[in-house]
Amino acid sequence: MKPTFKFLVTLAFIITVVFGQPLRDVEIEVKVNELLYQMTLAEKIGQMTQFSGTNKQYEQMIREGKIGSLLNVIGAEENNRIQKIAVEESRLGIPLIIGLDVIHGYRTIFPIPLAAAASWDTVLIRKAAEIAAKEAASAGIHWTFAPMVDIARDARWGRIAEGAGEDPFLGSAIARAQVLGFQGEDLADPLTLLACSKHYVGYGAAEGGRDYNTVDISERTLREIYLPPFKAAVDAGVGTLMSAFNEIGGVPASANQFTLRKILKGEWGFDGFVVSDWNSIGELVVHGIAKNQLEAGVKGLTAGVDMDMEGRCYTTAMEALVAEGTLSEELIDDAVRRILRMKFKLGLFEHPYIDESIQKELILHREHIQTALDLARESIVLLKNENDVLPLNRGKINSIALIGPLADDKDAPLGTWKCEGKQKDVVTVYEGLKNKLGGDVKIIYTKGCDVKGNNRSGFNKAIKAARTADIVVMVMGESADMSGEAASRADLNLPGVQAELINAIAETNKPIVLVLMNGRPITLSNIESKVSAIVEAWHLGIRHGNAVADVLTGDYNPSGKVTATFPRSVGQIPIYYNHKNTGRPGDPDNKFSSKYIDSPSSPLYPFGYGLSYTKFKYTGIKAENNRLTPSDDLIVSVNLKNVGQREGVEIVQLYIQDITGSVTRPVKELKGFQRVTLEAGEQKTVQFRVPVWELGFYDLDMKYTVEPGDFRVMIGGNSFEGLTMDFKVVSLK
Ligand code: NOJ
Repeated sequence: MKPTFKFLVTLAFIITVVFGQPLRDVEIEVKVNELLYQMTLAEKIGQMTQFSGTNKQYEQMIREGKIGSLLNVIGAEENNRIQKIAVEESRLGIPLIIGLDVIHGYRTIFPIPLAAAASWDTVLIRKAAEIAAKEAASAGIHWTFAPMVDIARDARWGRIAEGAGEDPFLGSAIARAQVLGFQGEDLADPLTLLACSKHYVGYGAAEGGRDYNTVDISERTLREIYLPPFKAAVDAGVGTLMSAFNEIGGVPASANQFTLRKILKGEWGFDGFVVSDWNSIGELVVHGIAKNQLEAGVKGLTAGVDMDMEGRCYTTAMEALVAEGTLSEELIDDAVRRILRMKFKLGLFEHPYIDESIQKELILHREHIQTALDLARESIVLLKNENDVLPLNRGKINSIALIGPLADDKDAPLGTWKCEGKQKDVVTVYEGLKNKLGGDVKIIYTKGCDVKGNNRSGFNKAIKAARTADIVVMVMGESADMSGEAASRADLNLPGVQAELINAIAETNKPIVLVLMNGRPITLSNIESKVSAIVEAWHLGIRHGNAVADVLTGDYNPSGKVTATFPRSVGQIPIYYNHKNTGRPGDPDNKFSSKYIDSPSSPLYPFGYGLSYTKFKYTGIKAENNRLTPSDDLIVSVNLKNVGQREGVEIVQLYIQDITGSVTRPVKELKGFQRVTLEAGEQKTVQFRVPVWELGFYDLDMKYTVEPGDFRVMIGGNSFEGLTMDFKVVSLK
């Protein structure tokens, strides 16, 4: 017998009073159940089905209640039109939830996520996500497939561009900021987006860095490295997760009961829904764990994937399985409940349509563009600055040879997910420099070569330009399509003949400033000694050129620090700072130690590294107490002094090491960071408060624990060097 609405309302009231749940959540549960009871099995399966784009066939399916969600529908008018069909022409009038990959901006394009992470500025990253949400929501989008929170320790993997890099602690902080930015205070606000943390899970650990490839990681590595940013997103209230393409140790992520049912929905109590990645349920057949799409659908659903993106695996064929008793309707109900819950939370039943006039005011709003510039500046990392060649000495420099295939390129700055970004909105480095230097400095621009290919016909002109100029600025790197999905690389040098051109220009003996534009750490050993300065400018979005010009001229003092290790060569990959010590750590005097015979083991630029136009000095590390229990906080400080000539921002990083444990621990783990601004000559005490409980790990029984014993803390400006001191953790008794 179905419970009556009155009964459910009374129940809701009791739950509110007895369990103290917010009334709105309880009301939503009541409404979800009420609606579910009215739905046919076919309509339920419809809610679990998502298609891309629109056409006459999909419109008919929406009328019949066979589609619950669409992605990639663009424009407020079109989204309203399609929504109207769902709301006004389907039997139950359940609104569609419309999704889009709004990754680093909608029309106002911000730096790619790997670049933004280099700012370590969670406040600004949150603001950028909030703006992206506003613009996209004003175009009728309800849901973004972001943030991507995959840890990436392999720069060959093109999707490293889409995440925060290699570290779980920083990755968690950024995941939290992005979720809060997209979702805002209240999902029912029409200018917020439902967020989706992806790709759950382990996608970044693809063998050989090849996209979609096999993943085989231990449960410990999964729990300590790959899961924390997802957990942080869930704790921040993320409404959805996306199940990944990859397998983990023989079980594809989109059929993985352990990661989805046990950890996500069980241990973490996640009450949102899981959407598959594009046909990742259908691909269970190709993985070889399902005979056909229907079997794949059952596996996906049983594992806990609630919505099938473009897979056609959750179909009415499931009805027969329910009728014969091989598939439980309860599983379907659970999935539909989760989806409806989010539709109610988004307020879609109350306001299914977007006011089409808002777009005009919001898209590319002046404040949005300013934030794009602020974040672009903060994302830039100064990797090398020999003899302080930068900032450019405006008094002395009369001419600049600006060379390189990306110097005036309007596409690369838009990065891997351009969304609705337009080339006409982009300021290139050439334009940025011209705007800034005006007629004072002569800029001789020539492309020199292409990003890819072996056309050397522009070399001579470039060499001539270099000869006549006081200094050379070369803008080199990867085009936008060389990182992101399906863009893994086996060679990480500058592509094409770009390195050759640098070598040719170096023959002129003119100082070279290399401005890099890339979506991943690249290998620079073949040209690093040929250039005086390296400015890592990634793909910075619509204000790319202004931000680079600000840094080159010194109007902005760079402060970014890389969040993924720059290897010397591809052969060192995977390379990351929080590695284990091994039983035979590299020792130059011992052949039989962990090292290469043809390369140092150290990276070119370690995690957390980046220079400034000023210098910072760390002194006097001290802890308030160096005997702590797991329920205490480690309170530790250093003195930081700006010993250079100008104001600057330092990203102060705190790492710990658990020296001896029941399982091996990394040599270092980031556990805190702060952005500190200091005037020239100014000094500050920088204090950290780190809960000892956060210094734990998963023990032999896979239980999270903080083991008593000796620890080391290091505070410094990157993961390689800093001031250290030891402390002890003692048991609670
Ligand atoms: C496939 C990608 O892996 C995923 O990140 C994206 O959200 C979906 N396509 C939808 O575009």
